Amino acid sequence: MADKFYITTPLYYVNASPHIGHSYTNIAADTVARFMRNLLGHDKVWFLTGTDEHGQKIQKAADLLKLSPKEFADKMVLKFEDLWKELNISQDDFIRTTEPRHIKTVQKVLDILYKQGDIYEDKYEGLYCTPCETFWLESQVENQLCPDCKRQLDKISEKNYFFKLTKYQSWLIQYIKDHADFIKPRTRQEEVERFLELNKLNDLCISRPKERLSWGIPLPFAPGHVTYVWFDALINYISAVGIFNDQDKYQSKWWPADLQLIGKDILRQHAVYWPIMLHALGLELPKTVFAHGWWMINDDKMSKSRGNVINPLDMVKKYGIDVYRYFLLRDVPFGLDGNFSEESITKRYNSDLANDLGNLLYRTLNMVEKYFAGKVPQVIEFRNPQARIIIEKSERLLNKIETNIGLGQDYNFSASLEGIWEVINLANKYVEETKPWNLAKEEKTDELKEFIALLVNVIRNVGQVISPFMPQTALSIEEQIGKSEVKKDLPLFPRIEINKE
Ligand code: ME8
Ligand code: MG
Repeated sequence: MADKFYITTPLYYVNASPHIGHSYTNIAADTVARFMRNLLGHDKVWFLTGTDEHGQKIQKAADLLKLSPKEFADKMVLKFEDLWKELNISQDDFIRTTEPRHIKTVQKVLDILYKQGDIYEDKYEGLYCTPCETFWLESQVENQLCPDCKRQLDKISEKNYFFKLTKYQSWLIQYIKDHADFIKPRTRQEEVERFLELNKLNDLCISRPKERLSWGIPLPFAPGHVTYVWFDALINYISAVGIFNDQDKYQSKWWPADLQLIGKDILRQHAVYWPIMLHALGLELPKTVFAHGWWMINDDKMSKSRGNVINPLDMVKKYGIDVYRYFLLRDVPFGLDGNFSEESITKRYNSDLANDLGNLLYRTLNMVEKYFAGKVPQVIEFRNPQARIIIEKSERLLNKIETNIGLGQDYNFSASLEGIWEVINLANKYVEETKPWNLAKEEKTDELKEFIALLVNVIRNVGQVISPFMPQTALSIEEQIGKSEVKKDLPLFPRIEINKE
């Protein structure tokens, strides 16, 4: 096991409320962090999330409400903090890019790179889309219209600052070749490799003149300019652990990150700009940048700009926190796109949760009550060969999950859950085949005892391994199946009648 595990999520823009897509990355990160801390007993896990608060998008959204950008961000950040609380996200730190600790670090980075000649001043002449805040080359454009939003482009000529990406292109190509775990999954690594082989990088314009955009971190060597929002935001991952802070050497030891989770929409920034920035600073690169897929609605990406977003709080209110977490992690292998629909939630709920897990738990609780007056029968050794197979399988679950979740792995939450459900289904099948009511009728007490002890043990093991995915459910199972007695509660997953919907 590594001596520490530092995991990060993107910093979400505060221009609008979080939607299902944002919650997905944080739920995945939370599951990894909980798995490391609670199941592997890793005592040094650091989990960072936060918000991206500078730039044009935020400025515009604030203008609409006649608030200053900072007032606006102070309001919006609560929606993120509240949602993470609601979803049981166990972050150790939450960073906002407007915090002094971050601003100081960004300015230090700029200073270092400027002094060593990796940032230089140049005149920029060309086309610019003001609403999108994007530069375009003549060759990319038709009829002077923005290729993205189709609005009129402006011809601009202004002084700006550039970061030398070009200088490090061949280094990056080699680095990616030599580090198979750096970009994951494999398809994303290949995508970045292809991009770097086929395109010559342009140096990155990392400034905006204050007259055009004032909401950003001033460049220390050019106070008339602020920092481009992406250059600013990426640095959070090191500013949060106080990378240049000599007083607190301990915190900075978290770097390099072990896992940086992102969506595939921001792969270029994290797999090209970010490693080059770090390398230029003489810092190590993250062990893994993992880009997951998109939640789609009717084949369209769920996004603020498309206006097809669903509020996670509505789903949680309707189905419960753990059902929501389970659905997102189970329905789609991490890395692929998935279609979001309430119909699929309901299906998963009824089959996997109400039918399989819920059924196993409640029939076991019922039998302990009925046949043993609520006292959990204690059996030390299982003699029945089928029982032994099931108990051994349930004891191996933890190892099995470790081959999916961890350094160098594919973070396949879905496969992990599938493995757990295999055991649940085996146990349910065992109940149906054994017909315990007959054992009771025939007064085969020892067999009945062994049989129920097996179910209790399997459920305990299941409860333990689902805890990173479904923390509340795990807790409830633990409370209901005590060491010596059961305490049956209301069903965790009552069936949803589909016709009523
Ligand atoms: O890009 N499906 O912030 P952002 C899955 N501030 N995940 C999704 C998703 C979807 N439909 N939509 C969004 C930014 N996400 C920058 C990041 S990092 C230094 C700066 C998730 O608010 C996914 O993690 O647009 C994606 O990468 C992120 O939200 C983008 O959030
Ligand atoms: Mg986005």
